[in-house]
Amino acid sequence: MRSIVLSVLCLVGFASTSVLAADAREPVNDRYCTTCHGTDGRGNEGVQAPRLAGMEDWYLRHQLENFRAGVRGTHPQDEEGLAMQPMAAKLSDASIDDIVGWVGSWTYVPAEPTLTGDVNAGQRLYQTCATCHGQNGEGNATFNAPALAGQNDWYLVTQLQNFMAGYRGAHPQDARGAQMRTMAKSLGNEQGIINVVAFINTLGRSK
Ligand code: HEC
Ligand code: HEC
Repeated sequence: MRSIVLSVLCLVGFASTSVLAADAREPVNDRYCTTCHGTDGRGNEGVQAPRLAGMEDWYLRHQLENFRAGVRGTHPQDEEGLAMQPMAAKLSDASIDDIVGWVGSWTYVPAEPTLTGDVNAGQRLYQTCATCHGQNGEGNATFNAPALAGQNDWYLVTQLQNFMAGYRGAHPQDARGAQMRTMAKSLGNEQGIINVVAFINTLGRSK
């Protein structure tokens, strides 16, 4: 145990030194994200890791802090969150700053739709969502609600399922997630989730 703690400390120490020393264009120790999140952070369905390119800096930071603190990604049924949580657990504040800047430099390319559903039914359901996520799914920082348009549809489906089941958003310190749990439940069932995501797929987002 002691040696594990020591080696983690060494790693963190080494990582933050290299952040300071490294050329901004050189990869540093905390830049293992694309292994799962795909080339240029475009998402990778094979490991269920969503697109990061184009993500709002405040949302990216908040999710990394939530994963790091175990507020997200610790429910035993949250398989994908459990894969991500240890990746954030080892990040220092300096690493998070570095990552937010690095991800911000990636080109945003909207994800390709992979599912079909009843778009009209989805549009009706989406009216509630628009209050926080915007008419065009562009997100709204005032409500802490991230952009949904352009995100991988398979990822949106998993998140809505997880919110509905309480695998995400049930942690006592996750006030924003708790809000989303109520909203996800309003979709009623699996078909409601598919339909609303099919509608989100029709929303464009240029940035
Ligand atoms: C071992 C594979 C893996 C690695 C490496 C990894 N991630 Fe993830 N990440 C995932 C998976 C899987 C999810 C989906 C979690 C879920 O469904 O809740 C995820 C989710 C996320 C999310 C949440 C996105 C959202 O829309 O809420 C962020 C942010 C994130 N990762 C950032 C990073 C960053 C930054 C790094 C590098 C420091 C990283 N990840 C490294 C697998 C990984
Ligand atoms: C009251 C405001 C509000 C409403 C209404 C709302 N959301 Fe959210 N939503 C949020 C917030 C805040 C978050 C970020 C939660 C967090 O930080 O973990 C979020 C997160 C999400 C996520 C996760 C995105 C990601 O990248 O991981 C999805 C998917 C989502 N909302 C879909 C919907 C859908 C679909 C509806 C309508 C049924 C909806 N939301 C209605 C506030 C809202």
